Amino acid sequence: MGGEEEFGPSALGTKEHWDAAYERELKIFKESGDAGEIWFGEESMNRLIRWLEKQKIPLGCSVLDIGTGNGVLLVELAKSGYTNLTGIDYCPSAVQLSKSIMEKEGLPHVKLQVEDILNPSDELSGFQVCIDKGTFDAISLNPDNAAEKRKQYVKSLHKVLRPGGFFLITSCNWTREELSNEFKEGFLFLEELPTPTFCFGGRTGSSVTALVFQHRT
Ligand SMILES: C[S@@+](CC[C@H](N)C(=O)[O-])C[C@H]1O[C@@H](n2cnc3c(N)ncnc32)[C@H](O)[C@@H]1O
Repeated sequence: MGGEEEFGPSALGTKEHWDAAYERELKIFKESGDAGEIWFGEESMNRLIRWLEKQKIPLGCSVLDIGTGNGVLLVELAKSGYTNLTGIDYCPSAVQLSKSIMEKEGLPHVKLQVEDILNPSDELSGFQVCIDKGTFDAISLNPDNAAEKRKQYVKSLHKVLRPGGFFLITSCNWTREELSNEFKEGFLFLEELPTPTFCFGGRTGSSVTALVFQHRT
């Protein structure tokens, strides 16, 4: 499993795809109140929250959700007591959707902004925890020089996460070994979180990988 050779370029790697997807989801949310897809399922969120709780990460620590989509992970984090939450997505419609969902959930303190993680603004820095659920996977499927974009992602992550901060990634395109290799510049592999089998991009049977890294200078 894994690697660009097997998981070649796909619509899932393009901004056009996500723009169209979240335009649709925003419309559905306005009509029916349905928040839409939870990538990798509920358990993928619980697993991350359990890890943060086990580590006794303070509830006020700054958390960044990279490629937040509908922001449902941030809703769950807020419901678990985390108070300093930021979500970014490069799709304005995703940010609009997540803002509408926060409003409905009564969570106005969750910060949401349009940002491309491959070119983050200077104000995006100093986070104690960064979370990625499916975004590095999407970037890996970009038809236009994905290898370069993955390298840029690692550089951006190193910039936005503070030294000693934690990075939690959930992926179904990459194995533990592959991710450890991708993030070896500037990050220390800490642990793998146990996961079930799932599917992404129409491929079934790939097992989800959930890993924790720590920023090192
Ligand atoms: C598979 S979805 C996952 C959404 C969300 N993390 C979740 O778990 O439901 C990938 C998300 O990454 C966003 N994304 C892809 N490339 C991005 C980039 N360069 N910068 C910011 N967001 C990006 C997409 O718009 C989409 O919301």
